[in-house]
Amino acid sequence: MKDNTTYDLSWDEWDELQRPAAATTEFDAVVEKAISRRGFLSGIVAFGSGAAVMGAGTMLSTTSVEAQAASRFGFTPIPIQTDNTVHVPDGYSWAPVAKWGEPLFSDAEELSQDFGVGVASSDRVFGENTDGMEAFVVDGRQVIVVNHEYVNTKTNLPQNADGAVLSADDVLTLQNMQGVTVMEVAEGTDGWGIVVDSDLNRRITQNTPMTIAGPAAGHDLMKTEADPMGRVVLGTMNNCGAGKTPWGTYLTCEENFNGYFGSTDEGFEAPEDYARYGIGAEGRYSYEKYDARFDTSKNPNEPHRFGYIVEIDPSDPTSTPIKHTALGRFKHENAAAVIAPDGRVIVYMGDDERGEFMYKYVSNGVYTPGGPTSELLDDGVLYAAKFDTNMTGEWIALTPEATGMDAAEIAIFTRKAASAVGATTMDRPEWVAVNPVAVEGYCALTNNSRRGPEFTNAGGDPAFAVENSPNPRDANRYGQIVRWRPENDDHAAIDFTWDLYVMAGNPTVHDDLNAGSDNINEGNLFNSPDGMMFDSTGLLWIQTDGDDSNEEGFAGMGNNQMLAGDPVTGQIERFMTGPNGSEVTGLTWSADKRTMFVGIQHPDAPFPDGEGMLARSSIIAIKRDDNALVG
Ligand code: FEO
Ligand code: CA
Ligand code: CA
Repeated sequence: MKDNTTYDLSWDEWDELQRPAAATTEFDAVVEKAISRRGFLSGIVAFGSGAAVMGAGTMLSTTSVEAQAASRFGFTPIPIQTDNTVHVPDGYSWAPVAKWGEPLFSDAEELSQDFGVGVASSDRVFGENTDGMEAFVVDGRQVIVVNHEYVNTKTNLPQNADGAVLSADDVLTLQNMQGVTVMEVAEGTDGWGIVVDSDLNRRITQNTPMTIAGPAAGHDLMKTEADPMGRVVLGTMNNCGAGKTPWGTYLTCEENFNGYFGSTDEGFEAPEDYARYGIGAEGRYSYEKYDARFDTSKNPNEPHRFGYIVEIDPSDPTSTPIKHTALGRFKHENAAAVIAPDGRVIVYMGDDERGEFMYKYVSNGVYTPGGPTSELLDDGVLYAAKFDTNMTGEWIALTPEATGMDAAEIAIFTRKAASAVGATTMDRPEWVAVNPVAVEGYCALTNNSRRGPEFTNAGGDPAFAVENSPNPRDANRYGQIVRWRPENDDHAAIDFTWDLYVMAGNPTVHDDLNAGSDNINEGNLFNSPDGMMFDSTGLLWIQTDGDDSNEEGFAGMGNNQMLAGDPVTGQIERFMTGPNGSEVTGLTWSADKRTMFVGIQHPDAPFPDGEGMLARSSIIAIKRDDNALVG
């Protein structure tokens, strides 16, 4: 029987199980570290002497009196917290908007503390583990589209001991709690809430039919018994970050899809390509035992149909989502779309695994408001980023000539293509954000326990720390945010210059590179930047998914949190703290910019309903008490 302790692992820890480093080959050791709540990184040897601090002048100091005086922040920064609720600055208030299990339709049953959400209602309610989201206005109504990244089986299947997955109904329940929610929201006298039974409400699950588009559509590697043409796939999974197209559709990003597949046949010989993507013999949630689609011994091509970006039209609940293979197959974090001066569509993307790459897609066609958009995400060129130590870099096109692979292979085995051109192995690229008031992009490099001379990524590319690079620290446990400015202020350009906007660290504990950059101080300590969004004024909001032990190297950082950063001065201040155990992820705004919607994922504590209640991942609304603008 499956060891249920694996349900508690983070996806990063799951990766370690699939591909253990030499020093951590013992399954038990990995699980034990996971159970000791994020103790995973604490045993790693601290940064060695092999690298130097980034060149002076590349970091922006925020300690000057001038910078403080010029502060653009409309709030008084708050201290860290280690409790079980949300904190916001004085003059701000917060309240839940939508919680896991809350009905989107009046025919759905209310959540039971003993049984969670029954299978019959599981695709009629707000899903689990809220993540990336975007807000839209459809016919004057406000709609939030939001991802449901993964599940917490102990919470979602409370009737089963240790959250074990025991039946086809359990699997279907979990499949329905993931994917995407489209929901109309409105603000009433009691605050913001779901408009139950709105004709715009929709659940997209791991079983919703979607069209496969782009170079991989119809390829032999995409064909299955159920879909002999390789053009229609059921569902989307592990939807992490998000994005929005210029034409008003939603982009949902499939991240750790590998963890849903396993083989019921111990003798099954996995295709060679599985290893690069971490597709192992056993899935995390036992899907393969109860749903043959996830049994790789029966459907070896099914994993090739996940790991993409999916486009959803929030204005049409009957529309078929489109899986855009031209944007590549990897552990997609989010999708930051922007228009180049000539009208081409740019989508920046990160592949969140240790030592994987940053990508950029450039459409061949141009976007014109009101013009055709159907080809813009299917016909273009994919690039991978290469960073040099002289603070320049380039985007390398993943073409058949450069990679020795055809267009469909590049779309399906994108990591291999990027390895072939020598892209730079990064410290787990999470969200990318594009500044709306300056031509520059930012990517959160959350941390990397496998950065060091002894490590490679899953493709064998070296992953040692490089002085004066965006990945300068061995055993990077704090993370950093890299920023690039494209040549000629053109996001379609090949060349760019870069610096580190911030290198997180702890100057109260360390005096080497682990102290962090100059804009880190005792008042704004954090680790593991992950979610990032710019507001309309050009302020960068940074959300964290890291070690919340508040001990040793993480002392003074408290629970995961959301901070705001000024791109010009480098000043970073803490705006919000999440409940213990949670990740703060996902951010969008109401149409009038007077409400900020923030996601609270996988709280340990019974958030937000209090003692004795199930913990419920939630979207919360944050407003200023004077109803002024918040973004
Ligand atoms: Fe789902 Fe990389 O965060
Ligand atoms: Ca994330
Ligand atoms: Ca993360």
